[in-house]
Amino acid sequence: MKSYKIAVIAGDGIGPEVIREGLKVLDAVSSKYHFKLETHAFPFGGEHYLKTKELLPDSAIQELKKFDAIYLGGIGHPDVKPGILERGILLKLRFDLDLYINLRPVKLYENVETPIKNKGPQDIDYVVVRENTGDLYTGVGEFKAKGTPQEVAVQSMIYSRHQVERCVRYAFDLLQKRNAKEPWRGLTAEDRTQGYIGKLTLCGKTNVLTYVYDLWDRVFHEVGSEYKNIKRDYVHVDAMCIYMIESPERFDGIVTGNMFGDIITDLAAVTQGGMGVAPSGNIHPGGASMFEPVHGTAPQFTGQGVINPVAAVASGMMMLRHLGEEQAAQNVEDAMKSVIKKMKSMLVGKMGYSTSEIGDMIVRAL
Ligand code: IPM
Ligand code: MN
Repeated sequence: MKSYKIAVIAGDGIGPEVIREGLKVLDAVSSKYHFKLETHAFPFGGEHYLKTKELLPDSAIQELKKFDAIYLGGIGHPDVKPGILERGILLKLRFDLDLYINLRPVKLYENVETPIKNKGPQDIDYVVVRENTGDLYTGVGEFKAKGTPQEVAVQSMIYSRHQVERCVRYAFDLLQKRNAKEPWRGLTAEDRTQGYIGKLTLCGKTNVLTYVYDLWDRVFHEVGSEYKNIKRDYVHVDAMCIYMIESPERFDGIVTGNMFGDIITDLAAVTQGGMGVAPSGNIHPGGASMFEPVHGTAPQFTGQGVINPVAAVASGMMMLRHLGEEQAAQNVEDAMKSVIKKMKSMLVGKMGYSTSEIGDMIVRAL
């Protein structure tokens, strides 16, 4: 029997609650499709840090590299100063495992309420490919004259051509796969006669960030010229915030840097029904990749059973796709969709069911 080694970092706050439901679903679907998920729990997170002063040792990174995938709940703690856990655990995982893609599908499921008036599931279905290793996230910067009235703070936006190129290439490849069976429905008749099957939009700020997004723009078109069937589009990040609300149907795929990707995917999550539904994958193609809900640890709701586990379940589904278990992934998606139809809302405490009831319902629907 095929078997995969999964590292589980349930994390803090409601992390363990949603991961428990995710694992319930993954366990059930793996026995149905005759493969095994061998899980191994790691304690890292804010609680662990407060108890032991340990964040994420390099030895753990070496160990994690041996796993087929990592399933993560959420990292964060109200008693730890902002930045310590983020940089010491979450970003360290992304950087040290070179998880250079942060894949965030934006899909509005049937019966999920979107705050955008007059838009439905046919309008909101695209993927955001967020670069995940560079940009303002590299932590390069400094204070000058700290604490004085003359103080200056610098934080550098840094990209190498290599980082940009592999990210952009991943996005073009992904859209080719995404639209292989059927061309993206947003294409015009003329686009189709030209042979396009999909469209990739670069989200940048070439009018102000004339170094970094100039590089992105050049690489986007250089690499894109190899993908004759994917149409290229460009939108400034500020205008992106308009279009994602006014006309989300114009997007098939969006590729962008780490910082803009962080921001626009929170906006995108709201359009797909909120943080209760948005999944993500931190991916290194061919390597140990990490799957986590976009939402955080919501400490104020811990232990109440009111958190929506759908984002965690959907992240588990992405993990199955990544492992090549497409049928099982599809089964999870279908089961999840059918349960979503029965839920009153995707929002905390308004679902009509508890966290674990939703996990149970998804298992039954498999
Ligand atoms: C996310 C989060 C992280 C990020 C934080 C917690 C460091 O907001 O995954 O989007 O900024 O990438
Ligand atoms: Mn974020």
